[in-house]
Amino acid sequence: MEKKKILFVCLGNICRSPSAEAVFTGVVKKHGKSNGFEIDSAGTSGWHAGEPADRRMQTHAVKRGYNLTSISRKFNPHSDFDHFDMIIGMDDSNVQNLKQMARSAADLDKICKMTDFSREFNYDEVPDPYYGGSEGFELVLDLLEDACEGLLEKIESKEI
Ligand code: 4NP
Repeated sequence: MEKKKILFVCLGNICRSPSAEAVFTGVVKKHGKSNGFEIDSAGTSGWHAGEPADRRMQTHAVKRGYNLTSISRKFNPHSDFDHFDMIIGMDDSNVQNLKQMARSAADLDKICKMTDFSREFNYDEVPDPYYGGSEGFELVLDLLEDACEGLLEKIESKEI
């Protein structure tokens, strides 16, 4: 069967979206579904392109068993909209930026927001942790663990 291709997007691609990539990879593995997915992440800015994930984000993630191995890259509207089935922004600004880059109604249809899949948490964004303290990084992981389970559940139940 065709793999479902999922792209997580934030601003810098060094904190939230590489974490989403690692957490969702862990969730699909836990459910024995690794073969069904291609999972990647990107940033709407290219500010940190070529860099590994933020050290602080890596430190918090590794404590929960996630290795953030991805290298930052800028979202490419000319290839990413065609390649991926779902493009998932972390906050409203990411979603707005993605929508501005969409070339067609089909592109727009692929864009959604991470917290649309939350089960336990009632946040409407995954907040940017870059300028804050360690609680922000922990909150990112809490929200992602919850929403990534919700995302897989929705995909498996063919709701999306
Ligand atoms: P991210 O966090 O979008 O979750 O990767 C940020 C990373 C870098 C910056 C802002 C947010 N920055 O301003 O450089």
